[in-house]
Amino acid sequence: MNLDKLMSQHLTRAFDASKTIPEETLQQLLSFLRSTPTSVNIQPNHFYVLATAEGKKQLADNLGERFQDNSEKILNASHTVILTTRADVPDSHLEEVFNKEDADGRFPDPAKRALWQFMTRDFLNLRNYGYKDLNHWMEKQTYMALGMTMMAAAELGVDATPLEGFDPTSVDKAFKIRETGHTTTVLLALGYPDPAKAYGSPISRFEADRLFTFV
Ligand SMILES: Cc1cc2nc3c(=O)[nH]c(=O)nc-3n(C[C@H](O)[C@H](O)[C@H](O)COP(=O)(O)O)c2cc1C
Repeated sequence: MNLDKLMSQHLTRAFDASKTIPEETLQQLLSFLRSTPTSVNIQPNHFYVLATAEGKKQLADNLGERFQDNSEKILNASHTVILTTRADVPDSHLEEVFNKEDADGRFPDPAKRALWQFMTRDFLNLRNYGYKDLNHWMEKQTYMALGMTMMAAAELGVDATPLEGFDPTSVDKAFKIRETGHTTTVLLALGYPDPAKAYGSPISRFEADRLFTFV
């Protein structure tokens, strides 16, 4: 990964519609996304991978009135991922997580398994009734997966642009997302930049002395 290049690079706003991510690269990226960690392994996400012109159009047509600017990015991207997050954590979801951990052999020791499950429920109760931030907490996990996947894309030579410019109600409706117990959190456009439309200006960030405090 070329960090110097990443540090001086604008996020891609214009994709080259003629270029498609090779299937093997896409699968590598999706495997990576699948592997990203979440707090207490809660795995609150479902990802819609829009790989066809129809899928991307369905999203581009439903971004909401204020967000038409993002349509072209989605249509010209090779793929766009809708990252959705659970609206709550029903017991059925928790059971699914625990069953999968069992199937994957995560806790061969039954005592450790029981302790982990107790801790997970305890932590969820804290989020739900103490901090009262269950959904916000889960969406933070989603953003971490987003950031990690952007870095993985860079490693694979794919440009990745996160998009917050959309109306979640409209996107949820278009893809029947709420029916699954999830809501849309953020979008990730993936593809290759259109060199003719690349920004030539320098990126602008606060200086290090404004950002870092060494203690
Ligand atoms: C979480 C996130 C969401 C973003 N959403 C959009 C978006 O909806 N549309 C867009 O054109 N750019 C979007 N951007 C790009 C930012 O506006 C851009 O990175 C920022 O202005 C800095 O510009 P630079 O990347 O060219 O340095 C988003 C960036 C981040 C990190």
